[in-house]
Amino acid sequence: IHAIVDRWDSDVARTVTISRRHALEQIESRAEKYEIDCGFRRCSLYRYATSDDAKEFLEREYPASLEAALPVRQEEKLPFPLLHLCGPVVVLENQAQFDPHAYVSGLARISAGQGCRIFENARVVELDTSKRIVYTEKGKVKAKEIVLATHSPIDFHLVQAEMIVNREYGIAARIERSSFPPGIFWEKGTEQLSIRNLEVDQQTFLISVGGAYKTGQEDATTNLDRLEAATRTYFKRCEIAFRWSAQNYRAADDLPYIGRDASGCFVATGFQTDGLVYGTLAAAIIADEIGGSNNVFASLYKADRFSPIKGAKRMAEETKGVLTSLVKDYLLGQEIIPLSQLMPNTAAMVEFENETLAVYRDKNGKLYAVSPVCTHLKCKVHWNDVESSWDCPCHGSRFAPDGTIIEGPATEPLTQKFLHKR
Ligand code: FES
Repeated sequence: IHAIVDRWDSDVARTVTISRRHALEQIESRAEKYEIDCGFRRCSLYRYATSDDAKEFLEREYPASLEAALPVRQEEKLPFPLLHLCGPVVVLENQAQFDPHAYVSGLARISAGQGCRIFENARVVELDTSKRIVYTEKGKVKAKEIVLATHSPIDFHLVQAEMIVNREYGIAARIERSSFPPGIFWEKGTEQLSIRNLEVDQQTFLISVGGAYKTGQEDATTNLDRLEAATRTYFKRCEIAFRWSAQNYRAADDLPYIGRDASGCFVATGFQTDGLVYGTLAAAIIADEIGGSNNVFASLYKADRFSPIKGAKRMAEETKGVLTSLVKDYLLGQEIIPLSQLMPNTAAMVEFENETLAVYRDKNGKLYAVSPVCTHLKCKVHWNDVESSWDCPCHGSRFAPDGTIIEGPATEPLTQKFLHKR
C-alpha cells in the first residue's frame, strides 16, 4: 500500500482498497448465490517481518494502510511461535480464501448454461481489431467487442513497455492436521513468503508461495531451493508433495490496466499476483462500460493511461535488468559450450556451423535445437532448468525445448534447427 501512496496519493490508495473490497464481496456473493463449492471462507491476513529491512518496510506499510482506510491493527505475536520475528505483526481482518479453480469452473458452468460459448485450447494468434475478428489456431471468432484478458496481449502492445514480468514458485507440503492456524501469512524478510494451510481429501497441506524472480534473468533452481529452505523454517521435516510455478505481470505504476486501449479493444492485465480480485474488478468495469453505464472505478485503472513519471523509477530499474541481459547476450553472449559437453537433462548455447543455437539434451540423450532469438521482439531466450523451458527476459514469452510457445506475447515458435552436418 505504501508504494501506491508514495507513487500516487492516499486518495488513490483508498479507492484501490475500496474497489478491491467490492470485488471480493462479489466473489463471495456469487459463490453463495450459485452454490459454487469453492470453500470460500473469511480469514485474517497477517504481515510480519523477519529482518530489520523488512521491519522498516512494515513500519511504512502500517500508517499507509490506515491512510488507505484499511482496518489494520498491530499485534505483538503471530498465532504460532516464530523465533526470528522482527517487530509487530500487522493484521488485516475479513480477507478471504477459496479454491480458485473450483470457483472459476463453477462460473464457467453457469455462464455456459446461460448461453455463453467458451472455446478452450484455442490460442489466439492474430487480431483484426478494426473488423473485430479474433483468429485462433482452430478458427476465427467475430464479436462486437474484444476483451484481451491475458497476461500480455499478443504481438506488440503499449502496455508491454510498462510491465514487469516475474515468475514465482509454489509448494505444498504435507503437515499434521491442525498444526498450522487458519489465515493468510505474509512473511517479509530475507525471503518473501505467502503461507496458508489447506485441507483437501482429508489431508492437510501447508501452501507456501513466494520469492518473485525475473523471468529469463535469474536462476530458477536457486529460487525454488530458497523457497523450500524458507518453508522448512516453519516445518523442518515436512514432505513436499507438490511444486508449481506461475508468471505475473506488474504495471510499473502499481495499478492494473483495465479498459479500452488505443485500438478500441478492452484490455485487462497487470494484475500482479492478485488476478482473482483484479480479474473480478476488471469484469465489472468492462461489463459496465459495454452496457453503457459508468463504473466509479473505471477512471483509476484506465488502460490508455501512461504514467511514465509514476512508474519511472521502477521502470528504470527494470529496464536496467533487461538491458543488462540484452547487452550480455548480444555483446558478450551467453556462455557457449561444445555440443559434446552438453549433459543429459541440461541445456546451453551451442556453436554449430558458425551459428549459436539453444540446445537441450533430454534425459535419454535426444537433442532439441532452436534459434535463441525470441520471435516477439528479438531478445535472446534463457534456459529455465526447473521447468525445462526457454524464457525470454524482455516480455516473458516462454517456449518448450522444441520451440513450441508456452506463453506469449510471442505468437511464433522459436525456429527449429537441425544438428546434422550439411
Ligand atoms: S517476449 Fe518480447 S522479445 Fe521476447
